[in-house]
Order: sequence, then structure tokens, then C-alpha cells
Amino acid sequence: MKVLIFDTAEAAAQRCAAHLLDRVRENPCAVLGLATGGTMLPVYDRVATTYLAERVSFSQVTTFNLDEYVGLASKHVCSYHSYMRVALFDRIDIDLGKTHIPKGDAVDLAAEARAYEQQITASGGIDLQLLGIGQNGHIGFNEPTSSLASRTRVIVLTEETRHANRIYFTKHADTPRRAITMGIGTILAAKACLVLGTGEGKSDAIAAMIEGPLSARCPASALQMHPAVTVIVDRAAAAGLKLGDDYQRVHPNGA
Ligand code: F6R
Repeated sequence: MKVLIFDTAEAAAQRCAAHLLDRVRENPCAVLGLATGGTMLPVYDRVATTYLAERVSFSQVTTFNLDEYVGLASKHVCSYHSYMRVALFDRIDIDLGKTHIPKGDAVDLAAEARAYEQQITASGGIDLQLLGIGQNGHIGFNEPTSSLASRTRVIVLTEETRHANRIYFTKHADTPRRAITMGIGTILAAKACLVLGTGEGKSDAIAAMIEGPLSARCPASALQMHPAVTVIVDRAAAAGLKLGDDYQRVHPNGA
């Protein structure tokens, strides 16, 4: 893994946005895997402002989001469909017909999951998968003990994850109990992965992902098996790394 450590969360998010934009400049038809969550908001903000300033066109880009809550219609204000529209899609020239997010309100969720995998395959596969990380080490909504070979499916969220996402809902009881998520096998099939982790709350998960044993206890540790992973962290999220000094020697100031 290539581990880049930045002084601040803002600098880390900027670097993450720059990485994503560079892939689109290199390949205007890129297939991007996208993530949601608080960590990604400054990234998408930076992407949108760069789009305006430099007109990096997304018109031919295809996207696949990692996940969606089960039971929420696309139009629900807390759905990841709404999140993506507000945070990014409505701010750039992307063709909404080329964006994909699992339908959390599909009548047949198993069929929706199978169709999602087929759509990814038909697109030629994901060129770059953007990932946040949960405090429990989840990527997508692959909670601890998810199979490291799992594909898109419905998963029951842990109470820890429900509590972390509670801030987006009026009350805990409204926080969804299930999600439809790309599997770890789906994520590992991407040609490259870009993980962003910021804040002290992520430090244990980041350390387990990079330096811990390969284990379903920390689903993100499966990324150790992937040949092209870049991890971008701020100092707070890097605090648990035993070999942090080494990573900084190899890539001083995120270079
Ligand atoms: C979101 C996703 C999750 C989040 C993770 C971190 O699509 O798949 O894995 O990336 O829960 O969320 P935040 O950034 O809110 O801490």
C-alpha cells in the first residue's frame, strides 16, 4: 500500500480530490467507484470547484456507488442517492444516466444486487474505487466478519455503524438497520483503490487496515491483497501506525 500522511484533514481531502481528478483527465471515460459519508464531503466539494474553475469534464464518466440504505427511496433526503446529487452530481456535468447506486427500495433486493454486479462487469470494471473507512474497519458497508470474497448483497448494519450514522436521521429508530453494499470481492476487483481516512476516530481502523493481520475482523485489511491501493490520511488518523515514520520517509509530505 502507498500510504500518504498529511498534516491536516483538509490537505488530505484535497490530495484525494486531485488523485480522482487526475484519473478523469487521463481517461475522460473512466469508471469510478464512489463512496459517501462525512469524510467524502470536502473531496466532492473540491472536485466540484475544480470542475468549475478548470472545466474537467465528467460527461463521459461512469460511476458506481458502494452502497445504499435498505428501505429508503432514491428521493428520501437521507438516501445516498440524495447525498450524491447534492454533494456532487448536481454540481458537475455528469450524465445521470451513467451514474449507478443500488436501489435500497427494490422489491427484490437479491435481484438488484445481482444486476448491480452485472452492470459493473458490463461497464468494463471499475478503474478507481474511492473508499472511506468505518471506525470498525468496514469498507462499503461490509461489516466485520463479512466474507473477504463477498459480492454485492444486503447486510445487517452493526449498532456501532447505526450510531455513527445517527446524526443524519431525526432519531435512532429511524436509522436504517440494513444496507445493500458492494462486497469486498467487488471492491478488490477494481483496478485501483483510493482510501481516505481522517480524524482520530479512524486511527485504530487505519492501523488495522494497513498493519494488522489480514482478517474479516477488519474488512479493510482485505485491501492488503490488492496490488494498487493508495491510502491518504491526516496525522490524527495516522496516529496508530507503528511504521508511520517509514511511510513518511518513503513519501515525504504525501509526495
Ligand atoms: C459510504 C461507505 C462507508 C463510509 C464509512 C465512513 O458509502 O461506504 O464505508 O465510507 O462509514 O463514513 P464517514 O466518512 O461518515 O465517517
